[in-house]
Amino acid sequence: MKTFTAIFGTHPTASAEAPGRVNLLGEHTDYNDGYVLPTAIRQSTHVLLRPNEGNIFRVYAANLNQFIEFNMAGMPEEHFGQYIYGCLKQVEALGIDVPKLDIYIASNIPIGLGLSSSAALEVAMLRALRVLLSLPLDDVQIARLAQRAEIDYAGVHCGLMDQMASSLADVGQMLFLDMRTLDRRKLPLPAGSEILVLDSGVMRTLAGSQYNERRAECEAAARLLGVAALRDVPEPSLTESLPEPLCRRARHVVSENNRVLRAREPISADKFGQLMNASHDSLRDDYEVSIPELDELVAILQRQSGVYGARLTGAGFGGACVALCEQGAARHIGLETLKLYNRSGRNGCLLVPEPSR
Ligand code: GLA
Repeated sequence: MKTFTAIFGTHPTASAEAPGRVNLLGEHTDYNDGYVLPTAIRQSTHVLLRPNEGNIFRVYAANLNQFIEFNMAGMPEEHFGQYIYGCLKQVEALGIDVPKLDIYIASNIPIGLGLSSSAALEVAMLRALRVLLSLPLDDVQIARLAQRAEIDYAGVHCGLMDQMASSLADVGQMLFLDMRTLDRRKLPLPAGSEILVLDSGVMRTLAGSQYNERRAECEAAARLLGVAALRDVPEPSLTESLPEPLCRRARHVVSENNRVLRAREPISADKFGQLMNASHDSLRDDYEVSIPELDELVAILQRQSGVYGARLTGAGFGGACVALCEQGAARHIGLETLKLYNRSGRNGCLLVPEPSR
């Protein structure tokens, strides 16, 4: 991989890093003011910067070996360029003068698999700008700016979970987040467990998926129920008066919030796993964001001994599955599961624990 110096002929003056995330429970609850339980993963994105004294931004994405140039009058076409542009716009909107920059991006977070590669890029870029320009921004403000960059410039009406997780979560701990108050608490994983994340081999594009449609359905359901957000509905049965499909969408959100609240308590890995299994059923049947490949991968995982529970993770429509496994067993279970899943010509692969090189 080419270095910053090889591309720009000089050394960077600021750099920052941000991790990807995997969500253990609380899917499609964040934009309903609900609760989520993500954790950071080891894979991360690095951004290196240097003011270039020119009149153009230059960005090199090392993994893609792609180089682009732009000025703030027009957003670049490349996805990675749009996230960078979005972050620059957010910082400019704070009234801050951003010099023209040479920007280098390197990442080992796979793109489009539901591990928040975009949130990690945004958070790493904003952190690098914070270092370079001594910006008085805390980690929550960084997450909020990152989310605005994604909504305004990448066109995805996403919630705040991914950016909060990338900005605040640690590897090996769960981050309980109340997405209305932003109250948060770091929690240990259930005793004797570890996380396994497998890619289904089916790419997911969030904007192209029905993400924005699901969000609009939730807002419509909340309006009909006369509440500010689905977080305010205490009981899944209260959603039964709603027309289809709003009643199932709302039932998912209400039941999923209850599952996160139960998982926040110090429960056993077994109980936690059961909540994950129930979450997958709800995402498949009520929220309808699963696909046959994810259902198959989850079913194989759930049959493996040493697996407490498994579900799709992230927005759905492709991407990854997460399982809670007996401590020390995740890699073996992952590889055994993939043998079965890939038999029919699929391209599933191990994401966490990191594949050995
Ligand atoms: C994507 C969004 C998040 C969240 C999840 C689903 O990752 O960016 O805000 O809504 O989907 O839980």
